[in-house]
Amino acid sequence: MEKQHALLTGASGQLGQTIQALWPESGLADRYQLHPASRTQLDITNADAVAATFTELNPALVINCSAYTAVDKAESDQKNAFLVNAKGPENLAISCAKSGGRLIHVSTDFVFSGVFDKPITLAQAANPAGVYGVSKRAGELAIMELLPEAGLIFRTSWLYSPFKANFVKTMLRLMSERDSLGVVADQRGAPTSTASLAQAIFKAIDKPRVHGLHHWSDAGDISWFDFAVAIQKSALAAGLLDKAIPINPIKTSDYPTPAVRPSYSVLDCSQAIVDLSLAQFDWRVQLDQVIQTLKN
Ligand SMILES: NC(=O)c1ccc[n+]([C@@H]2O[C@H](COP(=O)([O-])OP(=O)(O)OC[C@H]3O[C@@H](n4cnc5c(N)ncnc54)[C@H](OP(=O)(O)O)[C@@H]3O)[C@@H](O)[C@H]2O)c1
Repeated sequence: MEKQHALLTGASGQLGQTIQALWPESGLADRYQLHPASRTQLDITNADAVAATFTELNPALVINCSAYTAVDKAESDQKNAFLVNAKGPENLAISCAKSGGRLIHVSTDFVFSGVFDKPITLAQAANPAGVYGVSKRAGELAIMELLPEAGLIFRTSWLYSPFKANFVKTMLRLMSERDSLGVVADQRGAPTSTASLAQAIFKAIDKPRVHGLHHWSDAGDISWFDFAVAIQKSALAAGLLDKAIPINPIKTSDYPTPAVRPSYSVLDCSQAIVDLSLAQFDWRVQLDQVIQTLKN
């Protein structure tokens, strides 16, 4: 059987690299030829370049891992945040709408501003607080309008992986450099390994009727402080760190940042669990796996 083509945009990002690494064991490789494209190979803000790629590949499937993810920088770089997070997905959706391709896109818990105290359902209206969240919401809306049946959006939270920069890798570096650390304890969310999100995406590829907004994160409801403590514990057990340092809980107000972050952003993933027939992964197990990969 001839393989269909799957275009992976933002292939050098942490999710993009994870999807490439796990693709051979995804069960999809015998049906789809994956075409990873980094930003230099395909800038999704360039409508002509997107259209030319579709002419060349005619992808049945696009997995968009591209994003402007510098949350604080976005506050003073609104133009580029919107170009990548709103115009880029719109370009992909326009080309998918023309060609009949399906678009799987990733969005964020930052489309909510954190006025919740229990997992946020799909019924809750988005109310982003910062430029990053507003730009990501604009991307969601463009896809839902242009691809009402063929667009699938996974909102996720607190992504980390062995690749690129993320909270886990930053903590490990600071824990090896410093004598103590203060970590914010009044923001709660669900850390999510990119490997877990990749599994949800792989499942979704095999369920072509699943569309629209979905939430997907690892199972957890913890603070950044709790996460840092768990990272240190896991890294000590794996031999990735050789000594424990004191980690102190601090308040958001003690660590001011240009962008306001949600104080609570645990996502209710029940719809995706049903639609994908996939159970959420335990954040602790996923963390241990990433620590082990970093150790190796
Ligand atoms: N990271 C998180 O904590 C988090 C949380 C919730 C949701 N998300 C969402 O999850 C998705 C994956 O995030 P991630 O952590 O894997 O992000 P990432 O590591 O920052 O990767 C994003 C990738 O997009 C690429 N990119 C930027 N502008 C582009 C453009 N104009 N055209 C094509 N590619 C472009 C970047 O290229 P360069 O490598 O050249 O910079 C980078 O490789 C994103 O949609 C993000 O919004 C992330």
